[in-house]
Amino acid sequence: MSEMLLNVENLRVGFDTPAGFLRAVDGISFQMQRGEVLGLVGESGCGKTVTALALLRLLPRPPAVIEGGRALFRGQDLLAMPIAELRRIRGGRIGMIFQEPMTALSPLHRIGDQLVEAARLHKEISVAEARALALDWLRRVGLPDPEQRMLDWPHQLSGGMRQRAMLAMTLLPEPELVIADEPTTALDVTIQAQIFELLLKVRGGDTAVLLITHDMGVVWDVCDRVHVMYAARLAEMGPRDAVFDRPAHPYTRGLLAAMPRLHGRMDRLPDIPGQLPSLAQPPPGCRFAPRCPLAQAICREKQPEMEELEPGHEAACWMAGKGEVA
Ligand SMILES: Nc1ncnc2c1ncn2[C@@H]1O[C@H](COP(=O)(O)OP(=O)(O)O)[C@@H](O)[C@H]1O
Ligand SMILES: [Mg+2]
Repeated sequence: MSEMLLNVENLRVGFDTPAGFLRAVDGISFQMQRGEVLGLVGESGCGKTVTALALLRLLPRPPAVIEGGRALFRGQDLLAMPIAELRRIRGGRIGMIFQEPMTALSPLHRIGDQLVEAARLHKEISVAEARALALDWLRRVGLPDPEQRMLDWPHQLSGGMRQRAMLAMTLLPEPELVIADEPTTALDVTIQAQIFELLLKVRGGDTAVLLITHDMGVVWDVCDRVHVMYAARLAEMGPRDAVFDRPAHPYTRGLLAAMPRLHGRMDRLPDIPGQLPSLAQPPPGCRFAPRCPLAQAICREKQPEMEELEPGHEAACWMAGKGEVA
């Protein structure tokens, strides 16, 4: 039985830049259910990180402008609630795993002190209980010698160990939602893939995860549903198997055509000829049309809206299901 956790309606986010107004998220809507793992994929610059940061109101304003939309988390609008209330939710009911772990762990405090503080901030427990919980989580994320780790400073840990400590800190308040964003550098990708896997293994079953990645292999391995984003809009969304077996949008098909068949891991998305359109001056019509092998006149003239193809499986494409792409 599903239970609505997050309901994002028509989110629009832009930036005032010297080159003009750039709309990085252009009217996206999606829902997440309790405990589900949702993959958000799309090539670099399509608006994945801006979407995540906008939900938590972590974008610098200016230059960012939240132009519209709602993000109902258990019915409460994250975009409209008093910021003090949102601060209590961040790091508690909603956990975040971003690209740079040093931003989540303060360099000025020992790991143990930070974990105990995080636990007590979000749970009504004693220091002793918080300590026990912190030790338990350090163990669960696979850090050797947790007693010693409690006394360590963040800089004493390797990158991978810091990621694990941060994961312990994220999961210890038992969040209802974790938003995990991919790394941008190839160097971090392997560690991040391990952290994604660990996150899914050690999280409680009620914790939903929004997994932002460019790796279709990771999506196949761990996600219940997948949303494909292209140039600030959603191109396709649906249950993992439906999207992988019956991709409807030519962009999704392009991504999947290049995916290695067996447990393929990719450190970047496959190349599709052409490039992302300018978000400051997007083309009229479908944004993928300039790169699309199926594009017809209507595709260049009128922007397609999301349409349901089968239960829960939607695509925004005039040609959805109307032709094969090798
Ligand atoms: N602070 C900012 N100022 C101006 N433009 C930004 C800023 N942050 C992101 N953008 C732009 O928003 C678009 C989407 O970026 P992002 O969400 O980071 O992409 P992704 O995470 O999918 O790679 C990009 O064109 C990016 O240049
Ligand atoms: Mg990003």
